[in-house]
This record gives sequence, structure tokens and C-alpha cells, in this order.
Amino acid sequence: MIVIRSEIPEDYAAVYQVNALAFARKNEAALVNRLRAVHPHISLVAIEDDQIVGHIFFSPVSIESEDAKFMALGLAPMAVLPEHQNQGIGSQLVRRGLKECEEQNHNVVFVLGHPNYYPRFGFTPAKAKGIVCEYPVPDEIFMVVELKPEALSGRTGLVKYRPEFAGV
Ligand SMILES: CC(C)(COP(=O)(O)OP(=O)(O)OC[C@H]1O[C@@H](n2cnc3c(N)ncnc32)[C@H](O)[C@@H]1OP(=O)(O)O)[C@@H](O)C(=O)NCCC(=O)NCCS
Repeated sequence: MIVIRSEIPEDYAAVYQVNALAFARKNEAALVNRLRAVHPHISLVAIEDDQIVGHIFFSPVSIESEDAKFMALGLAPMAVLPEHQNQGIGSQLVRRGLKECEEQNHNVVFVLGHPNYYPRFGFTPAKAKGIVCEYPVPDEIFMVVELKPEALSGRTGLVKYRPEFAGV
């Protein structure tokens, strides 16, 4: 059985390992260490047989236009240990993570990710809503989900991630 719960400090070393192994490099693991100092954030772990096998993180992003700035959350990074992938653990983390976002009154969440994966959780291309990413990425991989109807309510502009993401 998979248990999903909020991360606690005793999890930090295991969460580092999950990210380092899933991405086969240390960039995302180190990013998580930097992002913990940023608030608000949401960090959840997936546990199977007392072992942390997955992790998901949400940190603040801003949607900026000439005359307005609106805060939302960005889903990143997310990781599942290689030998535990394709068993639905990532999906459980996304669903539970979005629920947690909503419960904490964050009703707009962005993701940079695979266009075949994230639409199953309600994400759609942000470009269609007049929102683009600060990074030069293909339009179809930058997606957004509104957790309440009209959560974006016409807000458009450029999404900026936290400076901690620079160089990852
Ligand atoms: C992406 C990841 C978290 C998914 O976790 P998971 O537990 O394997 O996910 P699930 O079992 O819920 O879903 C598996 C689905 O995701 C797809 N998938 C997994 N990794 C993918 C990737 N990098 N690109 C596209 N699709 C991917 C699988 O093909 C499968 O699709 P299907 O359901 O249509 O068959 C995991 O594969 C992982 O840690 N990958 C390495 C790190 C990474 O790329 N993180 C995401 C970017 S922040």
C-alpha cells in the first residue's frame, strides 16, 4: 500500500536520493534543498513498506503582465524511484498534491512536463489561456490547471519561476 503524506525533516536525505536516482543526476535533488526555504511550498512523499519511493514539490510562481502580478504554484520537481515507476505512484502524488494545493487555497498550478502525462490530471496548454513561460520551451509542454472554475479569471502574462530554478 502507498501512503502519501507531507514531508518532514527526517525525510530530507531519502527525498534527495529519490530525486537523484529518478533524474540520474543531482540537479533536481539540490533544487529541492534550495526550494525548502521558499514559502509557501508543498512537499509530499510517497511511502511503500516504510521506504520513501516518490516525492512531489510545489513552489510559488508569478504570472506577470504590464500592470499586474498574480501568484500561483508550479509543480516541480516530481520523482519516483526507477524501480517503482509505472505503478501509478506518480499519479497518486499529482492527485494528492493538487488536492493539497486546493485545500491551501492555491487554485492555479503550472507544470513543465510531458504533454501525454499531465492532461490526465486536468492540465491544458497555458498558451491557449494567454500565458507563456519565461523559459524557451515548446508551447505544448507548459501547462496549467485551474482547481476552481475561473481561477485564472482572464489573467494573462509571463510566468516566472523562483530564482532557485536558475541553471537546473
Ligand atoms: C515522471 C514520473 C514521476 C512518473 O511517475 P510514475 O510513478 O512512473 O507515474 P505513473 O505510474 O503514475 O504513470 C506512468 C505514466 O507516465 C508516463 N511517463 C513516465 N515518465 C515519463 C516521461 N518522462 N515522459 C513521458 N511520460 C512519462 C509513462 O509512460 C506512463 O504512461 P501511461 O500511464 O500512459 O502508460 C517518473 O517516471 C519519474 O520519476 N521520472 C524521472 C523524473 C522525471 O522525469 N520527473 C518529471 C519531471 S519534473
